[in-house]
Amino acid sequence: MVKAVVLGAAGGIGQPLSLLLKASPLVDELALYDVVNSPGVAADLSHISSPAKVTGYLPKDDGLQNTLEGANVVVIPAGIPRKPGMTRDDLFKINAGIVRDLITGVAKYCPKAFILIISNPVNSTVPIAAEILKKHNVFDPSRLFGVTTLDVVRASTFVAEIVGEKDSRNIVVPVVGGHSGDTIVPLLSLTKPSVSIPADKHDGLVNRIQYGGDEVVKAKDGAGSATLSMAFAGYRFAESVIKAVRGEKGIVEPSYVYLPGVPGGDEIAKAVGVDFFAVPVELGPNGVAKATNPLGSINEDEKKLLEVAIKGLKTNIDKGVEFASAEP
Ligand code: NAD
Ligand code: LMR
Repeated sequence: MVKAVVLGAAGGIGQPLSLLLKASPLVDELALYDVVNSPGVAADLSHISSPAKVTGYLPKDDGLQNTLEGANVVVIPAGIPRKPGMTRDDLFKINAGIVRDLITGVAKYCPKAFILIISNPVNSTVPIAAEILKKHNVFDPSRLFGVTTLDVVRASTFVAEIVGEKDSRNIVVPVVGGHSGDTIVPLLSLTKPSVSIPADKHDGLVNRIQYGGDEVVKAKDGAGSATLSMAFAGYRFAESVIKAVRGEKGIVEPSYVYLPGVPGGDEIAKAVGVDFFAVPVELGPNGVAKATNPLGSINEDEKKLLEVAIKGLKTNIDKGVEFASAEP
């Protein structure tokens, strides 16, 4: 039995993500939580003819507890999105507290659940989550994921456009580092199958992958950031976790994880000099089965991108850890 939960379920990402989870035959129970409108979203989805039983909760009447009890997979897109001119770090002030409070609920009511964090700034909200889970003595690094799938989805799409591949699902680009601007490092040299990017398009392509989020923020012109592509990416990651838990082998997805705590991660953490970092991760019944290290064979351009990314990541990680450590 799989119980999936969406925290922030009435939002721009939350609604389409909940729709995809409701439509999935892999989900038996779906609990939706938000500070507004979650019972309405749940009532709407509950008319869909698929197996999942849907419930919706607000904070009143122990709503968070009722949402989380018995959960196996908790996806968190709660929090404010960017407007033009903002960085993801500008969201920290509000979203850090939201993530802290929701993770406190996870620690209390479903400490063994797989936790998928979408709320930005991911580079800092995942370290916050780790610290809060540690305080409650329930931190299992193999079960905490920062969702960076959208960067990989974008990389596939944009590379496919350039090389003329009709179906971008056939193109797999490892994207490592973090999830914001120059902390996002696409490793185009390791694209499978290997592709040849024209020299005059290379830097523009890297920039588009790093700043794809800004492209959407600008186009939405004040109405928020990526929601539909994020719901697609978030569902893809949640589905991969659920499939791996059910015993499917060989599933690899990139994710921003606490490297020193996951199999294969310690060596990568030492190489990059930061503890939280996105790499392609092999998933298994207990979450991260193995963090894989693609950095051994990257080219000089990619090494430079990596250097810049690590600098930015250090600041973002420290900010998250400091925030959570200052909490009683
Ligand atoms: P949105 O404003 O449309 O929805 C956010 C929802 O969170 C709202 O329904 C709101 O009521 C709810 N919420 C606020 N505080 C809450 C709380 N304490 N408990 C439960 N729910 C709460 O925003 P959105 O477009 O869905 O984006 C959500 C977050 O996802 C943003 O921080 C955005 O930056 C981030 N995001 C991340 C990625 C990624 O790749 N990781 C991609 C896109 C967006
Ligand atoms: C994205 O990459 O689309 C998200 O992180 C949202 C944003 O703020 O750009």
